[in-house]
Amino acid sequence: MTGPASYPVTVLRMFLVSLLAIVTSVYYPLMVVGNFDSRISLVLMFASLLINGWDLIANYQIYRTEKGEIGTLSREMGIGSKRRWLAVDILAVIPYELLGLHAFILLRILKLLRLSQYQKIWRHRDLRRNDTLYIVFFLFWMTLAAHWLACGWILLEPPRTDIDGATLYIEALYWTIQTLTTVGFGDYTAETRGQMIYSMVVMMFGVGIYGWLIGNVASILSKRDSVEQFYHDNMERLKTIVSNRGLPPELQKRIREYYDYIYSRSYSGSDEQALLATLPASLKHDVQVSLKQEVIRMIPALTESPENLIKDIATELETEIFIPNDTIFEEGEEGDKMYFLLSGELEVIRQKDGKIATLKPGDFFGEMALFEQTQRNATIKSVSYSETYSLDKYAFNSVLLKYPGVAAIIEQKAKERKSSTNQ
Ligand code: CMP
Repeated sequence: MTGPASYPVTVLRMFLVSLLAIVTSVYYPLMVVGNFDSRISLVLMFASLLINGWDLIANYQIYRTEKGEIGTLSREMGIGSKRRWLAVDILAVIPYELLGLHAFILLRILKLLRLSQYQKIWRHRDLRRNDTLYIVFFLFWMTLAAHWLACGWILLEPPRTDIDGATLYIEALYWTIQTLTTVGFGDYTAETRGQMIYSMVVMMFGVGIYGWLIGNVASILSKRDSVEQFYHDNMERLKTIVSNRGLPPELQKRIREYYDYIYSRSYSGSDEQALLATLPASLKHDVQVSLKQEVIRMIPALTESPENLIKDIATELETEIFIPNDTIFEEGEEGDKMYFLLSGELEVIRQKDGKIATLKPGDFFGEMALFEQTQRNATIKSVSYSETYSLDKYAFNSVLLKYPGVAAIIEQKAKERKSSTNQ
């Protein structure tokens, strides 16, 4: 037996199976209510034998070889109920025409179940487009359902000689869409008892689908932009606090500016934190490494750092954002962490000398108090919106011990700064 097929081959197989399932599910109901074209039927029979046969063998292999390992294709393809799925595959491959069982060809339509499964896998694997795919697939199923219902309507129509087949179908589809969307202009109405019963069922189906669709679209739209949601939620909270507790206008302004900045950057720090909180430690660590490593590499002091350093400090680095005029810390305070500036501009100010330096993205600061275990020798103020990564003193000390190269760069800088400050 051959091993599992490569990814492009699997995708090709799924595509062909889906295409055939769609063609048969459109053509066979038409065939039941209209004319039977023996050539098309023959082509579809051979296509089913080939494509569905290939699919049956491939699925059988998947179920046999991958005994439901978590996260594998077989699990997504329903390993738990493999007998049911294989039954669907077998029913779709049988050449009913050759056996004289023409009515049974409709069983091939069951293969659509595989298509719905592939759609689920697709949505599962393409999380970014999940909602869009959800709506596209829904429209697809609605169109197919409308087609089947139209065929059903034709079946119930008393024999008509006044119009051709195509017009008959369009009329039936027109009736179906009207009834499904609950518009019902009334220009095509049920005449026979069968049609009346059928109309009632379709109307109920239509109302159900309509309600379900509106509910789903509303929920998709409401969660579409989590950053915007985050912003509005925080603004609401701010409004409540302001009216209940009366925050000073200056403080209100700063909070508002902070959220405006976050919103303008489409920065959803809170989402990241909320997601990370749900993950087990090992996964959390890997996600943080992946999110932060690009930024860590932008900091010259850490550019040459080995992969391991990045892995070690990714979880330790905390994002801190400052708005214009914020004081990050004051001269004379105890130092408990150092910072790496990612964006924005900061001023280094000493009581004695005034502004002594400007810090730009990639610079670090707050290292001197940690090195020398003294107080901060200057005040750091944010000139613009600034984003930093902070590293607490314990993590800082362990980095110095483990990575002498990085320690040397930071120490060298601290010395230069000290001598320039003392001049
Ligand atoms: P620390 O003493 O912990 O807190 C103040 C920080 O300002 C200090 O660490 C340095 O990181 C930074 N700093 C001090 N002097 C200078 C300088 N001359 N140029 C740039 N940064 C400085």
